[in-house]
Amino acid sequence: MKSAIYPGSFDPVTFGHIDIIERAACMFDELRVCVLYNKAKSSLFSVEERVRMLQKVTENIPNVKVDSFTGLLIDYARVNDIHVAIRGLRAVTDFEYELQIAQTNKLLSAGSLDTIFLTTSLQYAYLSSSSVKEIASFGGDISQCVPESIAREVYAKYPR
Ligand code: PNS
Repeated sequence: MKSAIYPGSFDPVTFGHIDIIERAACMFDELRVCVLYNKAKSSLFSVEERVRMLQKVTENIPNVKVDSFTGLLIDYARVNDIHVAIRGLRAVTDFEYELQIAQTNKLLSAGSLDTIFLTTSLQYAYLSSSSVKEIASFGGDISQCVPESIAREVYAKYPR
């Protein structure tokens, strides 16, 4: 069985993430979408909330499983016998950061974990969880960024 992991913060999941999930799920027998800890970011949603939101938006994709982990991606991948990580590339500005993570994971896993980059579909090229949160915090319209059910949860975090 060919499996891949799509790791991320998903704080919250956006249409850009969902686009990558749908496309990657077509390429592998199983896609594990995993909420991991990014030390550089403070999160709006708890890990449990993010997992639940991801489960909701992927419930119609049978080969997607959602999980979370508070360690290194390579450790999760090793224990679960996964050898491919998926990451989305929106623009050239993502590239340096993503290349560094991919090379580090390859090195730390002794070559066992490769990263495959999917280019984000053009309509989501400038979409990020951070911009979703900023727009919502000022009461702006995030309907083009996240599904309705997710938008409700984001707005609930910014009572006005
Ligand atoms: O959605 P993000 O925040 O860009 O995802 C980054 C993430 C969570 C995939 C990355 O920070 C990560 O892999 N964290 C787990 C810890 C780890 O393995 N760090 C080593 C990477 S150098």
